[in-house]
Amino acid sequence: MSGDRSRIDAIVDALSREEKLSVVRGTSPRSPVPPGTAGYLPPLPEHDIGELTFVDGPLGVRGSEATAFPAAIALGAAFDPGLTRRVARAMGRETRDRGIDVLLAPGCNLVRVPQCGRTFEYYGEDPLHTARHTAAAVEGIQSAGVAATVKHYAANSQEHERTEVDAIVDERTLRELYLPAFEAAVDADVASVMASYNRVNGTYACQHERLLTDVLKEEYDLDGPVISDWAGVKDGVAAARAGLDLEMPGVDAVELLAMADGRTEPLRWLQRRWPDSLPSPADAVGAIMTRHATPHGMPAPEPSLFAAAIPDAVSDGRLSPDRLDDMVRRVLRLHSRVGALDGTRATVDADYDAHRDLAVEAATRGMVLLKNEVASTDSEPVLPLNDEATVAMIGPNVQEAKAGGGGSSEVTPTATVSPIDGVRDRSKGRVLAARGLPPIESPSTTDFEPDPAALLRRSNPSITKAVAIAERADVAIVVVQDAATEGRDRRLVLPDDQDQLVAAVADAANRTVVVLQTAGPVEMPWLEAVDAVLEAWYPGQEAGRALSRVLYGDSDPGGRLPVTFGRAAGDYPANARAQYPGVIGASGHLESRYTEGVFVGYRGFDERGIEPLFPFGHGLSYAEFEYRDVAVPSDTEGLEATVSIQNKSDRPGHEVVQVYAEPADTEVPRPPRELAGFASVWLPGGGNETVTVPLEERAFGYYDVDEGCWVHPGGEREITISRSSRDSRWTGSIVLE
Ligand code: BGC
Repeated sequence: MSGDRSRIDAIVDALSREEKLSVVRGTSPRSPVPPGTAGYLPPLPEHDIGELTFVDGPLGVRGSEATAFPAAIALGAAFDPGLTRRVARAMGRETRDRGIDVLLAPGCNLVRVPQCGRTFEYYGEDPLHTARHTAAAVEGIQSAGVAATVKHYAANSQEHERTEVDAIVDERTLRELYLPAFEAAVDADVASVMASYNRVNGTYACQHERLLTDVLKEEYDLDGPVISDWAGVKDGVAAARAGLDLEMPGVDAVELLAMADGRTEPLRWLQRRWPDSLPSPADAVGAIMTRHATPHGMPAPEPSLFAAAIPDAVSDGRLSPDRLDDMVRRVLRLHSRVGALDGTRATVDADYDAHRDLAVEAATRGMVLLKNEVASTDSEPVLPLNDEATVAMIGPNVQEAKAGGGGSSEVTPTATVSPIDGVRDRSKGRVLAARGLPPIESPSTTDFEPDPAALLRRSNPSITKAVAIAERADVAIVVVQDAATEGRDRRLVLPDDQDQLVAAVADAANRTVVVLQTAGPVEMPWLEAVDAVLEAWYPGQEAGRALSRVLYGDSDPGGRLPVTFGRAAGDYPANARAQYPGVIGASGHLESRYTEGVFVGYRGFDERGIEPLFPFGHGLSYAEFEYRDVAVPSDTEGLEATVSIQNKSDRPGHEVVQVYAEPADTEVPRPPRELAGFASVWLPGGGNETVTVPLEERAFGYYDVDEGCWVHPGGEREITISRSSRDSRWTGSIVLE
């Protein structure tokens, strides 16, 4: 690296100001680039600087065909950073295979409110759990010779008004909940960080000197660039001064629109820029084309905000030349990491067939069996299914694989296996099928944005057909889903009449299994009426293969909830309007006030004594485990707990051991319990293993705002070894120094 450092210094010395500017902002490609390229930096051949290309993740590589892996929340549900690392490496290899340098992944925002439209792109609601998965994803991606961009920094907790909302959040909460995953990414040597659209405590994240320079670069020691979210720069000079190094995408309006693939954010951005002439998106495109057309009919580039502002700012002293050099240096480190400075880019042939199998494995590992009961006529739980059973596959999208959610994370899959195809391939009995409702396609709306289409919806007569086939089957499997997307938030209720469909089927069927394909928690008004519920999240392109494996017991459902499921929206911690989606503050813009502080997710449910529908960490297995011989050795170097897990059943299965720390008496309010460590273990039928769970010291401490550091009060502290945040198997104590 030191060789690179002096090389980069020499390049910076040799670059003209104009050339420097071309390094710190994206532009439109001058040569053909791989499909799906989200951003581009041009080459400077005279200085041996190659071009640099960026592509979206984090569920797979966007653009031409790539493996659509299960959503990040499904990986979070596996509670296995090792699995996340393998999936991330596969994505990195597919990125490299396509000749792209930077993968815009992982997403590591904490799920503060389950309504967030991008919940499926994140790992969950616990900071330690998210941090460990984030670090693993960074390592996996970068092990393939591409650079990772961890996103979106920081407190980017909702999609509603995401480009303007102001997250009003206190320092301790930021440090304990919203920053640790980014810190872990930097510790894992992440190449770059994407600054988010929103404001934090009054200042846009892209212009936030304290967050970008003081915390990320000086305290955490990030050596690469901070990149703006796409079109997220509002004031070029303010952003550059604050510590933003690279403006993306930096291209002209028309290209931006083309890249946006119909997403609403850039459109809104355009509409803000031409408020008078853009009454509708379609007219907007026309107006921009007219306005920017050159005599050759080609759009003229609109300069980026960096391009427009930085030269003057450097000339008149508002931006120091040293700062510009630092920006360039950081971006060139990105080039250097991927071999774009010396033409040593790795070439990779990704094994797409192997990645399909990995996608199956990851999806099964992420599936959470929420409920599995014995029907009144049976002696065994309804799952796993009997091979010979007559099965009714019901659901509006039962003929499609739920490959992912909407927005920049959308992947064009290399293949897809629908739930119905998966079950047909596996079953030895009859498989009947009915949709029951028209396919769910459009994103669900939020509670605070009325959905005009809902008024026009009529309950669908084909529910009757679904009920009829359910009656004829041994088991009805109802596959329901939501349609979450970037750019808008989600409701916690299944869209359209799916609740009605489940209830009607459950009423008629002998046995009913509900498969949820949702971005996160949903309400389940029919829960008591059904026998089993499997949360499959967005399982990716191999949905049907993974689902049938779990339904028939070829794979154990390995997942545990990485987010608490409440009974209704009002149960969740940030449930007042001022907290979410926010209220207009004195400054005239939307403020989302994080007054729940550190009491997010299970921390909030526990603190307020609210019984969740399903707690954080919950998930059933087909196997049965016993916890024995717990030890919390005090003679080891790090904190850890060991426990012997005995699989008492004859089925193989996954167990996720969770260790929670109880708070000490401190001056600051602390949650009743915090996840301090976890480990996932697979055991054959009758198998036994002693599992060591490394514990995180911070779970026993808190961030002291006055001192500006973490404090770890010593002494004896209670810990529990648990199957979920509400199901402890062993309580004991640990002595901290
Ligand atoms: C999203 C980012 C994404 C970028 C480029 C933005 O709208 O917030 O996550 O990487 O677009 O597509």
